[in-house]
Amino acid sequence: MTALFDARNAAVIADPYPALARLRETDPVHWDARLGGWLLTRYDDIRRSLRDPRLSSDRMRPFFAHLPEKTRDGMADLGAHMALWAVFNDPPDHTRLRGLMNRAFTTSAVAALRPKVATIVDGLVDTLLQEPETDFIARFAYPLPATVIALLIGVPLEDVELLKQWSDDLGSFVLASRLSADKYSRANAAIREMNAYFGDLAEARRRNPTDDVASAMVAAQQRGDFLNRDELVAACVLLLFAGHETTTHLLGNGMLALLRHPAQMQALRAGRGNEEQVSAAVEEMLRWDGPSLAQVRVVAAEYELGGKVMQPGDRVFQMLAAANRDPETFVDPDRFDIARADSNRHLTFGFGIHFCLGAPLARLEGQVAFPILLERLRDIALAAPPDWSDSIVVRGLNGLQIRCIAA
Ligand code: HEM
Repeated sequence: MTALFDARNAAVIADPYPALARLRETDPVHWDARLGGWLLTRYDDIRRSLRDPRLSSDRMRPFFAHLPEKTRDGMADLGAHMALWAVFNDPPDHTRLRGLMNRAFTTSAVAALRPKVATIVDGLVDTLLQEPETDFIARFAYPLPATVIALLIGVPLEDVELLKQWSDDLGSFVLASRLSADKYSRANAAIREMNAYFGDLAEARRRNPTDDVASAMVAAQQRGDFLNRDELVAACVLLLFAGHETTTHLLGNGMLALLRHPAQMQALRAGRGNEEQVSAAVEEMLRWDGPSLAQVRVVAAEYELGGKVMQPGDRVFQMLAAANRDPETFVDPDRFDIARADSNRHLTFGFGIHFCLGAPLARLEGQVAFPILLERLRDIALAAPPDWSDSIVVRGLNGLQIRCIAA
């Protein structure tokens, strides 16, 4: 029998929405033998399940516990480190770890970045214009969030490339890309190096505090909020990691959505940076084809949904991309419309206690980037078919070749 949702099929990777819609209509709580987990596709089910403590975020400990001993031994650093990420913890540990990041990562610190983000965007647009045809991901959508998060944490800009390599190695493990066989050992090596790097950074900030997030977290640790150095380092790595790849895909998928809907691109350009319009457009990019394909939970205690009973230990894939196109929640959900009023109900930043800590920063980057891009670039066109990543968690482009000229 053909799988209802074949995550390895090239057509599904390029456009998962028809398959997700079929699933939502015919079997909204679906056991997928190949993925080894339940797929939830209805908006209401996913929202409800995200509030239920019977679904646990502690998915790394069981994963490592099930590995053959020999493999596990070679990944000890990775296992120990991942267990300290807020996103992989339930309360009470989650509450403590998130609270600490929250205190350092304040709304005012993010808002204060706006002019700096605009300057970085302008510099990147200059480089885009150096060639008539260019990869929008490599030249713009990747470096913008990487530079911004480095700035915020306090990583020197000359180290951004170094961190990219480590972060990519970690990403091929965390984001479940299926291509690389040696992904575990590369991720483990990357974590060792990142641990050392951020340990040194924390030490430097302890001696000479500045106004960055690393300094604020060190100060929190000194007040006794953090239990230990490893938790501090893990919080830095999580922020760095969570802070760039997803935002890259907001920018990449958003640009592709505009390219595929020229009238909407024109309307956004004509708005000349009207704040309300830009904000609604970014929310619609996040809803219609946002960076979150799925997020994963593990059943902690028997959980019944839609007449199906999930057992402890079962994995659950909450297909956020399917929720965002649920006709029970959104009017005409498959239509990309930057002026729609209901797009900000999307689940792209998750929901509940793990709601994305970096949402204000990601939104700020999108809201600053698109008006500048549209003001400074003309005749933007696709130069090659988009190259989609095969991750089951993240929806994004490996590359997006575009042509454009200066306005
Ligand atoms: C468009 C860009 C982004 C998207 C789509 C996104 C999406 C998400 C989602 C879906 C979650 C929930 C994961 C779960 O419940 O399992 C999450 C959590 C998180 N995000 Fe983001 N994110 C983005 C940008 C950022 C940025 C820029 C940062 C940091 C600077 C960040 C930091 C975090 C952190 C620390 C968590 C964990 C929160 C917790 O567990 O309490 N994210 N994000």
